[in-house]
Amino acid sequence: MRRIPLEDLRPGMVVARTVMGFTGRALLTENTRLTDNYIVRLGKIGIGSVYIKDGLGDGEVPEIVSEKVLFSVSNNLNNSLKSFTVNNSINVTSFKKSVNLLLENILSNRNVLIQLEDIRSFSDYVFTHSINVAVYSIMTGISLGYSENRLADLGLGALLHDIGMLALDAQILNDPEALSIVDRNKIKLHPELGFNLLRQQREISTLSAHVAYQHHERVDGKGYPRGLEGSQILDYAKIVAVTDTFDAVISDRPHRTGCTTTDAMVVIKKLSGTHFDPVFVEAFASNVALYPVGSVLKLNTEHLAVVTSVNRFNSDRPRISVICNQAGDLIKPSYEIDLAETPEISVMRRLTYEETQIIRLRIAKESNLETGLPSKD
Ligand SMILES: [Fe+2]
Repeated sequence: MRRIPLEDLRPGMVVARTVMGFTGRALLTENTRLTDNYIVRLGKIGIGSVYIKDGLGDGEVPEIVSEKVLFSVSNNLNNSLKSFTVNNSINVTSFKKSVNLLLENILSNRNVLIQLEDIRSFSDYVFTHSINVAVYSIMTGISLGYSENRLADLGLGALLHDIGMLALDAQILNDPEALSIVDRNKIKLHPELGFNLLRQQREISTLSAHVAYQHHERVDGKGYPRGLEGSQILDYAKIVAVTDTFDAVISDRPHRTGCTTTDAMVVIKKLSGTHFDPVFVEAFASNVALYPVGSVLKLNTEHLAVVTSVNRFNSDRPRISVICNQAGDLIKPSYEIDLAETPEISVMRRLTYEETQIIRLRIAKESNLETGLPSKD
């Protein structure tokens, strides 16, 4: 499967992953064949891209959080935010309930790795972003051996890290890349606005409230709002700084498709030591699949193979389907190998995006799938 930007979607393409809407409702379910009408509707809702089947890694990818839990959390959050905009009061119980639901679900799915990017509407960005940052932060906390109480505090801080944004004009948030300097400076007020809101809530721990205050600080002291550095920044805020950036980089924005999780990790690792504390970068990185499902690998045998499933404990040795022989001819039918059980075979490298496109085109042509890729003839 492959993430395709809205402008390249064509009727006949088959949806590989359900597209969820604002309240956790499915906008398009897996296996739906796109029509002109669907594509126009996706555009109106503000969906930036969709996963499409292309004959490579189209199998099921395990969810970190089940659709059912995501649906309840989205509903809870939606209602809490509505009551916040009407009464300017925070329904702490409802937010805590959401965090507990996420926490329970993640703890029962501890072996699942992050490998795909969420597809979401631009206008829901702050909302879905908050849930993702909470999920990634809890996963990082689990890797660090945090107790359930600490995970709940971290999760609540992560879920509410951008709550100060709600005090800003919605217009500013919808197109953050076309902002004036004045608007940029207004956005920089959101950590303090969020902290001031949260610290008035007795049921929210000071540590959680400080996540909102400190999540844009950098370990080298060049962040905002206070320019804190190193150990002056709380661990929870250091975690959210990493997960917040990761989710922002993989997200579609108007006129820009988000990066893959692999490219996003390259960005995060480059900023390790300046923006981020390396300890937390490493803890987070251990949750991101090295070779996500659908990526194409070159083996030491010169064969090409596509990743069909990944294993947390052997993330550099996934299960693969061998698709091309040494001469570059497609193998039919392809055959599966579990690299974890085949020590004599090793991965030389992951193919580049362009190299993978060529393989995808050949396979899609033979499988009669509409890919939207330019035809070579
Ligand atoms: Fe923020």
